Amino acid sequence: MTLNARIETWLAASHASCRFASRPFVTLCYAQGWDGSIAVQPGSTLALSNAQSCRLTHQLRSLHDGILVGIGTVLADDPQLTVRHWTGASPQAIVLDSRARLPRAARLCQHERPCWVLTTVAGAAREGAEFLQVAADHEGHVALPAALERLYQRGIRHLMVEGGANVITAFLRAALADALVLTIAPMLVGGYKAVGELGCHGRAQLPRIAPLQSERLGDDMIVWGRLHYSEKAGEDTA
Ligand SMILES: NC(=O)c1ccc[n+]([C@@H]2O[C@H](COP(=O)([O-])OP(=O)(O)OC[C@H]3O[C@@H](n4cnc5c(N)ncnc54)[C@H](OP(=O)(O)O)[C@@H]3O)[C@@H](O)[C@H]2O)c1
Repeated sequence: MTLNARIETWLAASHASCRFASRPFVTLCYAQGWDGSIAVQPGSTLALSNAQSCRLTHQLRSLHDGILVGIGTVLADDPQLTVRHWTGASPQAIVLDSRARLPRAARLCQHERPCWVLTTVAGAAREGAEFLQVAADHEGHVALPAALERLYQRGIRHLMVEGGANVITAFLRAALADALVLTIAPMLVGGYKAVGELGCHGRAQLPRIAPLQSERLGDDMIVWGRLHYSEKAGEDTA
């Protein structure tokens, strides 16, 4: 079985074995260098995946019904979030954008299907986007539990989260990411790290990947597995 087929089978089994009553199953999927960096600095763009890993990412997109990034990624990369290097439908594009900063010219606003923007402000509007107002957390960002519940109500059952670092960290901190598919490119970037402060105290509280699986894809390494949290994880997120 090819690596692509193995990951697809594993993901289908994960989706089938883990259904939540009011939120989607969440898969974190991003690319980093061997030092954990996803960019040279926040706001700069760095293509890390090789062509095969890029195809795997597009395959993973096709296996989810929603794909979410933070507004920082939209402002830095202006991504399309479509399935172009694999077959299948593109997932619903979703942006976490508390202050409604999404540029009118963003490529996400040029698709036939409007992009969904989770925000805390009332009355925001852009052509090509649908703003969904949800509650704020204690820092004024979109509250992730409320956001996921809203997405579930709108039919999203399998959500892929592609980044960037603040969003990856927020999902891990809230214990709301269920699986991880990580591309590790053979580079040392010395830059902006994917995972920031998680509020864990000691090894026992750290999120774990288990069982961890890995395989080379060209010169990239793909690492994947389910995420597990200690009892205390996610307690501080309203
Ligand atoms: N290598 C990869 O796979 C990959 C993938 C994606 C991105 N990137 C890189 O990552 C960088 C962007 O990352 P970033 O950390 O600056 O931005 P980000 O994680 O994409 O977006 C962060 C922003 O999302 C908004 N947000 C809304 N609700 C949030 C919540 N509950 N928790 C966290 N954030 C929330 C916040 O802005 P508001 O408060 O204004 O809403 C926050 O500043 C770029 O350099 C990009 O190229 C790399």
